[in-house]
Amino acid sequence: MWLGHVGALAVVVGVVVCWIYRWRNPRCDGKLPPGSMGLPLLGETLQFFTPNTSHDISPFVKERMKKYGPIFRTSLVGRPVIVSTDPDLNYFVFQQEGHLFQSWYPDTFTEIFGQQNVGSLHGFMYKYLKNMVLNLFGPVSLQKMLPEVENTACRRLQQWSCQDMIEVKEETANMIFHLTAKKLISYDSESSSENLRKSFISFIRGLISFPLDIPGTAYHDCLQGRKKAMRKLKNLLQERRTMPKKQQNDFFDYVLEELQKEGTILTEAIALDLMFVLLFASFETTSLALTLAMKFLSDNPMALKRLTEEHEAIIRKREDADSALTWKEYKSMTFTFQVINETVRLANIVPGIFRKALRQIQFKGYTIPAGWAVMVCPPAVHLNPAKYEDPLTFNPWRWEGMEVHVASKQFMAFGGGMRFCVGTDFTKVQMAVFLHCLVTRYRWQAIKGGNTVRTPGLQFPDGFHIQIWEKELQKGKIHVHLDGQT
Ligand code: HEM
Ligand SMILES: *[C@@H]1O[C@H](CO)[C@@H](O)[C@H](O)[C@H]1NC(C)=O
Ligand SMILES: *[C@@H]1O[C@H](CO)[C@@H](O)[C@H](O)[C@H]1NC(C)=O
Repeated sequence: MWLGHVGALAVVVGVVVCWIYRWRNPRCDGKLPPGSMGLPLLGETLQFFTPNTSHDISPFVKERMKKYGPIFRTSLVGRPVIVSTDPDLNYFVFQQEGHLFQSWYPDTFTEIFGQQNVGSLHGFMYKYLKNMVLNLFGPVSLQKMLPEVENTACRRLQQWSCQDMIEVKEETANMIFHLTAKKLISYDSESSSENLRKSFISFIRGLISFPLDIPGTAYHDCLQGRKKAMRKLKNLLQERRTMPKKQQNDFFDYVLEELQKEGTILTEAIALDLMFVLLFASFETTSLALTLAMKFLSDNPMALKRLTEEHEAIIRKREDADSALTWKEYKSMTFTFQVINETVRLANIVPGIFRKALRQIQFKGYTIPAGWAVMVCPPAVHLNPAKYEDPLTFNPWRWEGMEVHVASKQFMAFGGGMRFCVGTDFTKVQMAVFLHCLVTRYRWQAIKGGNTVRTPGLQFPDGFHIQIWEKELQKGKIHVHLDGQT
């Protein structure tokens, strides 16, 4: 009896030891990159999500780069992952999209963004959706949108200048949400009683957090937020269905039209998931970038001065100083684009780009087993002192005369290859036009906050509070285009 128990125990211990051994030494017919798989099941997930206040490469990645080199293995949220900080492997991964690698995000992401979001769609469906999105946010569309972007920025700035203090992250997110929601679903966030944006707020906090779905966790709130937002989007689409005559020429119309076509591959569920991703991707990322840009400019009077000169020159060159911004003027904002590049380089808003290996892959003597995830790590590229001198310093001038083809391997804030961010141009327009209105007519002072934390996603835990005034000199000379929209 007693011996039987010992025997059973020995078997259990044996199985567990074997299992732990397998966990730490995954099967692979070849040479895995060095690294540790961490604790069974948990892997190194907790270390990965540890917050840090520095703009530098996260300690998780930095320590392992030092120990193992530019390519190493780990385990995150229950998945074996190869982390790449190697420019050649990054490039290879981007180029092989759809062949050797496929877009893949952890299950938690799929949970949050819906089963059918653009990020995880493949092949034909993917191309189809991408074209839909490019139609909305491509250069042709943006040229038409320019006056609206300018009006919105000017109007918001005017409103902020009447307040004692504003929180930049929240306010810029509101501004951009207003614009995209109008564009996508003709949703007027200023006059609508339902607050769609609000249901996105709890959502954001939990987005890049530890995936534990029990009440009280950020992740749980995040899923609840998604549910709420999806319900509202569904209602809005339903509403539109019942009054199909009132064409708004927005994304909803496009979707409804598509849904009615015979043999269409679009479903309502896909359309709603996509809407959710787009609304979220547009305002959260761009508002983080704008807030960080304002923080950097507050701390760098030289850069602010140069930026202001560029925009004042644009106005000086006009026949009528009050006329609206043209596409040609927008395209001429050289220093502004340097500021934007430098901001997104340091922002590293997307700290990891995930793919899945479709087949076993050999690279630089290492084997990546089929089915493993690969995480391309943009911060390691953007903060590499060999490519960017003094990498933690905000220095827009470093972009002067930088060769584009060199830059593409060394700059992946918007991803790369086929999956390059479709919102890149939209983001640049938003940021440049906002900065134009800001520096030509206003000055501001930081009051409190502005500290950043990475978990590893960029966050402003206590916001960035500023006071903003209309510039005395400019008063009366340039007036704000109000267009009677208020
Ligand atoms: C500062 C702002 C932004 C940053 C840093 C950013 C970053 C990125 C990155 C790194 C990717 C590639 C993801 C991957 O390869 O898996 C991506 C994809 C994407 N972005 Fe953005 N983005 C920004 C703004 C926007 C905006 C404004 C929109 C919407 C209008 C948007 C919509 C998308 C979509 C739909 C994809 C998926 C494209 C695909 O899978 O082919 N992004 N973004
Ligand atoms: C952040 O990481 C650095 C090492 O890279 C470490 O010295 C510091 O203590 C960490 N903690 C915080 C709170 O930033
Ligand atoms: C910003 O970065 C992109 C991508 O590398 C590059 O093509 C562009 O020329 C850069 N812009 C400026 C103004 O340096």
